[in-house]
Amino acid sequence: MFRVVGLLGRSFSPYSSSLGAQKILYPLFSYCPQSPFPHHLSPFGRTGMATAAYAPEPKLLFRQLFECESSTYTYLLADISHPDKPAVLIDPVDVTVDRDLNLIRELGLKLVYAMNTHVHADHITGTGLLKSKVPHVKSVLAKAGGGRADILIGPGDKISFGDLFLEVRATPGHTLGCVTYVTGDGPSQPQPRMAFTGDALLVRGCGRTDFQNGSSEQLYHSVHSQIFTLPKNTLLYPGHDYKGYTVSTVGEELQYNTRLTKDVETFKSIMANLNLARPNKMDIAVPANLVCGLQDLLP
Ligand SMILES: [Fe+2]
Repeated sequence: MFRVVGLLGRSFSPYSSSLGAQKILYPLFSYCPQSPFPHHLSPFGRTGMATAAYAPEPKLLFRQLFECESSTYTYLLADISHPDKPAVLIDPVDVTVDRDLNLIRELGLKLVYAMNTHVHADHITGTGLLKSKVPHVKSVLAKAGGGRADILIGPGDKISFGDLFLEVRATPGHTLGCVTYVTGDGPSQPQPRMAFTGDALLVRGCGRTDFQNGSSEQLYHSVHSQIFTLPKNTLLYPGHDYKGYTVSTVGEELQYNTRLTKDVETFKSIMANLNLARPNKMDIAVPANLVCGLQDLLP
């Protein structure tokens, strides 16, 4: 079922096919009564839809979904030009799994991967529940995170769904096992590129670095070497937002990120003095997330 190719890393794909087109659909769908932004609104306008101007056919279907208790974004991506409409979910949350599956059903998609950017401390991942409800789904997590998953990935690996793929970039620092998933670079891949940064980079901020083997110095170098080196028009989708932001770009964060535009020593000082409380669910969430969020698997 999976193929292993290339010098940069392994390539995971439940399908193989070769047709391509380049238009992206960018609707935003938030599902939260207390959501800081209106339903069906996106940065692209009232209808929540926008398309790359020069591309001939839609290929990537994209939804940004929100879980309000932990302010977590879950991302749904699918190749709708492929006959099976294969889809992936990035950072699903246990309490919104039914919403996500309902949307996937309504859109006629086939979920193939449930992926996490890291082992979360503030919510329980939905990957285990998704696997129990949709048996063929594979969970994906970075090997460096030390958790359990069907597919343990590392830097340079590619996760394919239809003719689209996500490239894995290691961005440790918030946790040791953090990765950023970046849409592919190539003529049949979405333009501009899109990066799903988890908690390595938030809009105008970043994730904390004071637990789970975090390191502010490592995070600084991860973001500068793996995210800020992407094209400036790359769309950045964070793992959380607490102020109502939904998306940014590399160019925007290079100019306006309140922490990562500083020099490394200033950044380390900022991160060392945040004085944040422990996440409420940390003692439950971290052990559960090491086993796909399935608490009944805990010893
Ligand atoms: Fe996190």
